[in-house]
Amino acid sequence: MEPRQIGLLTPVALLEINNVSKRFAAVPAVHDVSLSVASGEFFALLGPSGCGKTTLLRLIAGFEMPDTGHIVIDGVEMNAVPPYRRPVNMMFQSYALFPHLDVAGNVAFGLKQEGMERRRRDARVAEMLALVQMQDYARRRPHELSGGQRQRVALARALAKMPKLLLLDEPLAALDRKLREETRLELTGIQQRIGTTFIVVTHDQEEALGMASRIAVMNRGAIVQTGGPTDIYERPNSRFVAGFVGAVNLFEGEVGAGNMLQAAGNEPVPLPDRASLAEGTPVALALRPEHIRLMRERPPGFAMAATIASIGYQGSQSTVHLATVQGKTLRADMPSSVASRFERDKPVWVSWEPDDAVVLTT
Ligand SMILES: Nc1ncnc2c1ncn2[C@@H]1O[C@H](COP(=O)(O)OP(=O)(O)OP(=O)(O)O)[C@@H](O)[C@H]1O
Ligand SMILES: [Mg+2]
Repeated sequence: MEPRQIGLLTPVALLEINNVSKRFAAVPAVHDVSLSVASGEFFALLGPSGCGKTTLLRLIAGFEMPDTGHIVIDGVEMNAVPPYRRPVNMMFQSYALFPHLDVAGNVAFGLKQEGMERRRRDARVAEMLALVQMQDYARRRPHELSGGQRQRVALARALAKMPKLLLLDEPLAALDRKLREETRLELTGIQQRIGTTFIVVTHDQEEALGMASRIAVMNRGAIVQTGGPTDIYERPNSRFVAGFVGAVNLFEGEVGAGNMLQAAGNEPVPLPDRASLAEGTPVALALRPEHIRLMRERPPGFAMAATIASIGYQGSQSTVHLATVQGKTLRADMPSSVASRFERDKPVWVSWEPDDAVVLTT
């Protein structure tokens, strides 16, 4: 493959993955993956456990070789390039810090191996520790740090050699919820400041939606959808993506008369205006819980009778579970100030804007 021309108008792909597959005995861990990541992107790989995320990172880093396909980084085909010669670094989930070295020693390690001369190395280590706000901890050993601090040292170490591409495997998995949220912001801030291309693996959809500029959703070794966070969340292309990326109400059925879905086990529900599918087509209608409105009085237009099964208070938000007359369960999310106007076991009317729902055919 020819290296791409670097021009002002063509966004340059830093990473091109073309039809890459990798099997372990009978397991197709990565199956026919093609992907292009531009320079400077914060890209997330999102998918359930065992779907092949780590294997894909290891293929990019060169710790595994593809059975078929090509990986091109910065215009150079990587199949014959060993891991240590690739402009890539990987931050492992376990952080893998050296316990016998202090923080500065950990960050300096790769630079020393590279033979970087002392003064430049010290300067680089100081710069990296400042970047992750760990300059006051340079002499501590890993066991004297909190989980979040270790995570930051691992990030500093991974960035010290200034890779063009940094692969991060579940970088926030070891942190508690609050620290995860703070660190998520730090990570995006650091990435924006240094401009290094990040590929972050996660199985946490909120994390992917909150951090990444683009997301690839993986299932069973394959990429099933790629897009920006709002594309993936608001316009999922399949039942799998709709269900994996956030909570969803699904109505299964077929397209009926008057742009209505003849739903199995439920009364007909309206399809979005733009859905122009032939009558009889089997489809699912996906509706996010935050699009459902509850009313005591029947509103004009489409509405469905239901009973409130439970109201789950979560602070600012509440989740209301509803049972329709036909016995289908629906989930509605709303501010707690709205949910508090309703009571358990009481009848309500459920409605939504038809255009807020998404029609799925796969
Ligand atoms: N070295 C190996 N030998 C055999 N099978 C492997 C090997 N590495 C991974 N696999 C299998 O390949 C599949 C994908 O594994 P991978 O580690 O890439 O998943 P993952 O998406 O990173 O999952 P998780 O979210 O749990 O980390 C799994 O079925 C796994 O058991
Ligand atoms: Mg993994």
